[in-house]
Amino acid sequence: MAAARQVNIAIIGAGGVGKCFLAQLEQLAQRRPNPKLVLCYISTSRKAVYSNEYSPIGLDIAVSALASSSQTPLALPSLAEYLSESDAKTVLIDNTSSQDVANAYPLFLSLGVSIVTPNKKAFSGSYKLWKDIFSASAQPGGGRVFHESSVGAGLPVISTLKDLVETGDEVTKIEGVFSGTMSFLFNSFAPTSGSGGKWSAEVKKAKELGYTEPDPRDDLNGLDVARKLTILARLAGLEVESPTSFPVQSLIPKELESVASGDEFLERLPEFDAQMEETKAAAEKEGKVVRFVGGIDVAAKQVKVGLEKFDRSHPIASLKGSDNIISFYTKRYGSNPLIIQGAGAGGDVTAMGVTSDLLKVLASL
Ligand SMILES: NC(=O)c1ccc[n+]([C@@H]2O[C@H](COP(=O)([O-])OP(=O)(O)OC[C@H]3O[C@@H](n4cnc5c(N)ncnc54)[C@H](OP(=O)(O)O)[C@@H]3O)[C@@H](O)[C@H]2O)c1
Repeated sequence: MAAARQVNIAIIGAGGVGKCFLAQLEQLAQRRPNPKLVLCYISTSRKAVYSNEYSPIGLDIAVSALASSSQTPLALPSLAEYLSESDAKTVLIDNTSSQDVANAYPLFLSLGVSIVTPNKKAFSGSYKLWKDIFSASAQPGGGRVFHESSVGAGLPVISTLKDLVETGDEVTKIEGVFSGTMSFLFNSFAPTSGSGGKWSAEVKKAKELGYTEPDPRDDLNGLDVARKLTILARLAGLEVESPTSFPVQSLIPKELESVASGDEFLERLPEFDAQMEETKAAAEKEGKVVRFVGGIDVAAKQVKVGLEKFDRSHPIASLKGSDNIISFYTKRYGSNPLIIQGAGAGGDVTAMGVTSDLLKVLASL
């Protein structure tokens, strides 16, 4: 019997998503012995585990080995060299949200190392970085790059959009709720039935339930949604310069932009409840509800992020919990859009997108 081929795996980041991915990788390695998947490097920002011989790190003990390791991470250029010098093909899994790691993708790809990641930074940063990544990947011998979980976590958003574009459909508009936090906030602040809570109380509740970033302003400024829209707009063919190059509505009152902490922000937010009540009441007068959405008008080359009103029967209005919803309007689908809906955050579902991307890389090696 022929010996199993080997593919080396390097992982940067072992937080919420990283740990779930390791568990999925362990199951995958057991289910599919060929190619043999060997974890040869794992790091967080301060610790690492690796050897000059690329010795396999047990997938079941990787997290504890990392915790007790006295090795420090390799600098990114040295890591790229280390990985490219192994005899086996290598896939780098970036489970961080680091811009520095993202900036190094062109180097890894040009050395033949493939990349799989849920990190939005590389694809929603400067347009130059976007071009550098895909041209490095397209070079002869360049690595493959997949980032399904950078939009909508494990929901098949990016692969669906790529399939639409690559099979020759004409995407005219993309619209949806792209943030689990914003989804939760508006589904409870302006529900389709009942009156909903006060805005500041809903933000406080979302923070207590762990749905917001430690400082809720990092969700309310709209930048996370703008980054996701940047990625989708570029995949749909628009040369979006950056996530700040189109209108993004921030829900942070001007007066609270510079308060020192997230806690002080939450204490003072009730002073601004009347503004959000007015917005809700204006929508109600028209029989509608307000939602925080992102939209891309492909023909008009316009991208925007902010509040919009929807009929109560609209799929965006009747979303539940912290789900995401993404509607693709295309020539083939006509006036009934192709809709993808479900959990857009969480370690297991995000790691699922990463693992399915890894399978795509393995199929292409
Ligand atoms: N969680 C979700 O539901 C979700 C959904 C969709 C997408 N994502 C994306 O998935 C990625 C990971 O999210 P997460 O929730 O797992 O984050 P997390 O829990 O904060 O974990 C991040 C990990 O990355 C490491 N890290 C950060 N900067 C690093 C650097 N420069 N070099 C090496 N390691 C570094 C951290 O190490 P230290 O602890 O040492 O700093 C930590 O192990 C992010 O890009 C996020 O946007 C997450």
